[in-house]
Amino acid sequence: MSQSIGLFDGAKEKAKKRIEELRELIKKYDKAYYADADPLISDREYDRLFKELQDLEKEYPEFLTPDSPTQRVGGEPLKEFETVERKNPMLSLANTYSKGEILDFDRRTRENLGGEPYKYVAELKYDGVSISLEYENGVLKVASTRGDGYRGDNVTNNIKTIKTVPLAVEYVEYKGKPIKNFEVRGECYMDVADFEKINRERIARGEKPYANPRNLTAGTIKLLDPKQFAARPIKIVCYFLLSEEIEFESHYENLLLLKKLGFPVGENYRLCENVEEALAFIEEWETKRRELPYQIDGIVVKVDSVKQQKKLGEVARSPRWAIAYKYEPERAETKVKKIIIQVGRTGAATPVAVLEPVFLAGSTISRATLHNADYIEKLDVREGDVVKIEKAGEVIPKVVEVVLSKRPPNAKKFEFPKFCPCELKSPLVRPEGEANYYCEAPDCPWQIKRKLEHFISRDAMDIVGGEKIVSQLTDKGFLKTITDFYDLKEKRSELIQLERWGEKSVDVFLESIEKSKKRPFAAAIYALGIRFVGEGTAKILAREFKDIDELSSADKERLTSIKEIGEKIADSIIAYFGDAKNLEIIERLKKAGVNLKREENI
Ligand code: IVH
Repeated sequence: MSQSIGLFDGAKEKAKKRIEELRELIKKYDKAYYADADPLISDREYDRLFKELQDLEKEYPEFLTPDSPTQRVGGEPLKEFETVERKNPMLSLANTYSKGEILDFDRRTRENLGGEPYKYVAELKYDGVSISLEYENGVLKVASTRGDGYRGDNVTNNIKTIKTVPLAVEYVEYKGKPIKNFEVRGECYMDVADFEKINRERIARGEKPYANPRNLTAGTIKLLDPKQFAARPIKIVCYFLLSEEIEFESHYENLLLLKKLGFPVGENYRLCENVEEALAFIEEWETKRRELPYQIDGIVVKVDSVKQQKKLGEVARSPRWAIAYKYEPERAETKVKKIIIQVGRTGAATPVAVLEPVFLAGSTISRATLHNADYIEKLDVREGDVVKIEKAGEVIPKVVEVVLSKRPPNAKKFEFPKFCPCELKSPLVRPEGEANYYCEAPDCPWQIKRKLEHFISRDAMDIVGGEKIVSQLTDKGFLKTITDFYDLKEKRSELIQLERWGEKSVDVFLESIEKSKKRPFAAAIYALGIRFVGEGTAKILAREFKDIDELSSADKERLTSIKEIGEKIADSIIAYFGDAKNLEIIERLKKAGVNLKREENI
């Protein structure tokens, strides 16, 4: 008997040792792969070790710990994120685009410190999404988004899957005290190359590309399924540790300690003896930033001494001891080959400059928006002009300036066309007080396609497909209005016959149409494409009205009694529901079983 217990203990002991050994190995390989980009073993070998650890932990659950690498694989999808109240609010930084204002900031610092000597730390300002990581007894407990600064979303299951985030920290001392309970602030981001790869794949599938790496990162963090999150290449960089247990001397030391605890800290920061050195760092990175694999939008300059930071304090939710110098967006010069007009879903006619292709901030640009007739008039852009273009944080660049010295002598002033470029050639009209011209023909094929594309887009009905599919199905007569999507299941066999389609893709498409019937009420309102009703307004309307009938019968008084709804939006909503054709669309959507009611518990 005693011998068998001994044997059992022996096996258990062995398993415990192996579990610890495997964890150490996996942590080492994770670091080599994710932090150092220098894999030590093959993927297959890694997967084998990981599986061995998972099996052992299943067999001996008493040895499972929250910091095991297996705990990164983050659980079941959530219905919604919990709200996290935080102890230390997440402040924002005062911004400036001017070096003169950095000198002003330095002067204020000098005055407020009453002549004490001080230093700065200058570091990169990562253009991503801020994240807080809270550790209790050295173990990661909660990761949350910034939210309103005081309350954010609990995104722990997602953040845990980022391999460079320590699930638990090794025992580390600072000035003889162990560091156990603390919060780390950092920024999640995506490398430009990864962002562009995801966008290329989306465009190839005919889907709308994401605007920029920051937006894609923000959208990814909000994914409710940690497995989907883990499939996206999100990275994190940390820049701040807060703890009631420790009195730091300087920010510089804070960064060094973060590194020692195993957090990913950026390599590019500098202790500056004075503001001139901080300005030199700003200038240096103005060009060097183009070589970074990720986007930064500026440099943060922070007073180094923590005692002095406390002395300087805060104003208007921003620390007085730090300032962000923001870089101007990058610009490029190129020639306008032609100015064309694109017609959107509301009939708005947008002028677009067709350009000689030019490389700008990571991609080749061949088109840029000119917004509207007034904008063209203001800049006096002409075909043949050399212009400067800028990516204002978005994928679609805009023309910002004409280089008049390079204007060809025969360049003619641009006249806004009088007719829609579609086959119907209906007149373009400019309503009083509006900057846009509109094509008002309800059967304009350009408008119809844009309406259908909008209806299926991610934030609307989220149906798979995009420009190419809509164009093909419209041209082949399958789609005329948004409600036609819900009749497509009767036409499965005809769809399978179409070029580039097969059974599998038709079924995926039809299934996502079925699924769209359960989209939230706000998404369905947005999907209707009512002029001036964007995503935000749609959410407000879904909050205010219990169903589409209540919304469609609301009068102007009722609509404008809602704080966020002004006259322009109210008129547009009333005009939409005043049109018999639109009411017929609503009836058909209802019949198809599309959710047009507010969800419970809002
Ligand atoms: S320090 C109290 N350092 O910029 C000051 N912020 O508007 C805390 N950011 O929300 C911020 N890189 O998400 C700091 N090296 C850096 C940063 C950085 C990016 C973000 C941060 C914050 C925003 C400030």
